[in-house]
Amino acid sequence: MGAVVLSGGTVVGEGFHAEFGGAHGEVAALAAAGGRARGADLVVSLEPCAHHGKTPPCTEAIVAAGIARVVFGAHDGDPVARGGADALRRAGVAVEGGLLETAVRAQNALFFHRFDGRGRPFVALKLAMTLDARIADREGRSRWVSGPEAREFVQWLRAGFDAIAVGVGTVRADDPRLTVRGAVVPAKPPRRVVLDRRAELPLDAAVVRTARETPTLALVGRGARPEACAALRAAGVEVATADDAGEALAMLADQDVSTLLIEGGGGVAGRMLKEDLVDRLYLVVAPLWLGEGGVSAFAGLPGTTIEHAVRWRTVQRRPLGDDTLLVMDRR
Ligand SMILES: NC(=O)c1ccc[n+]([C@@H]2O[C@H](COP(=O)([O-])OP(=O)(O)OC[C@H]3O[C@@H](n4cnc5c(N)ncnc54)[C@H](OP(=O)(O)O)[C@@H]3O)[C@@H](O)[C@H]2O)c1
Repeated sequence: MGAVVLSGGTVVGEGFHAEFGGAHGEVAALAAAGGRARGADLVVSLEPCAHHGKTPPCTEAIVAAGIARVVFGAHDGDPVARGGADALRRAGVAVEGGLLETAVRAQNALFFHRFDGRGRPFVALKLAMTLDARIADREGRSRWVSGPEAREFVQWLRAGFDAIAVGVGTVRADDPRLTVRGAVVPAKPPRRVVLDRRAELPLDAAVVRTARETPTLALVGRGARPEACAALRAAGVEVATADDAGEALAMLADQDVSTLLIEGGGGVAGRMLKEDLVDRLYLVVAPLWLGEGGVSAFAGLPGTTIEHAVRWRTVQRRPLGDDTLLVMDRR
């Protein structure tokens, strides 16, 4: 969440909530503005918090800085922290709020999901696909459907999630490392998860070879061969049982995974969509066709009609080099 301090219409301080447990955007913006905050306006994406959490209430800092008016985009979804608008009004600060509810909620969907009470992580599905919705060519190769700008974006995206998951088919085809290697370094590297019903994860796969440095969890079905599971455990992979995607997500939630980025492949993507378990799509559309025999981005989705199909809400479209990023939320 971000904040700016405006004095006479000029920005005199800017700040954002850089990491969980750190100063909120308001406090950072007020610190940047210093004495210029007195009598100024504070414009902030989220209703300022009114409680002692990891940091003291922002409302107190706002009143102490002498801010005359607060304008915020969306009300706080956190039942514990909300109430900031009323607290500010009681302290004599003018408040206008809830002016951009939908936009702020979309921009901070991972935060707001925590209060939706679904009991599972926020699930985002990211795929690089062609104009004909293929994610790999007829030989099963996906390197590289998208260009370097899109691949850099993925590194940035990964840094914001608690865990990254792929199906075992993707490990076999691409042998991804699923680590964050971009400019943004997360305080805690995302956990790596492989959906591996039959415990077929190859022992020489990168996610297995490096499992002792960056944790890897294999989610296997109850029918998986015990010897294969034991070999994975011996290689440093954590192995847990979940027979379907719903069970897998509930288990990840229990292990403090509140945001999950699924990076394919087509089998996992189709299954998750079919079961209505995806909250957000990050689709990188590359300007090429791969045609018959190419791997479908969403395998096994049942057919429907235009009237009955669910339309997603597009929250962002942006060029990434020659590719186009589409971000869509489920309604
Ligand atoms: N362009 C891109 O963005 C991109 C990204 C990733 C992969 N790819 C390409 O996609 C292809 C791989 O896709 P794919 O469809 O063959 O494989 P996949 O989706 O990566 O993996 C499918 C496997 O995952 C298992 N699985 C699915 N849901 C599960 C669950 N809830 N729990 C446990 N296991 C589960 C499936 O087992 P069951 O069938 O028994 O359920 C199956 O063995 C490769 O060609 C790769 O290059 C492209």
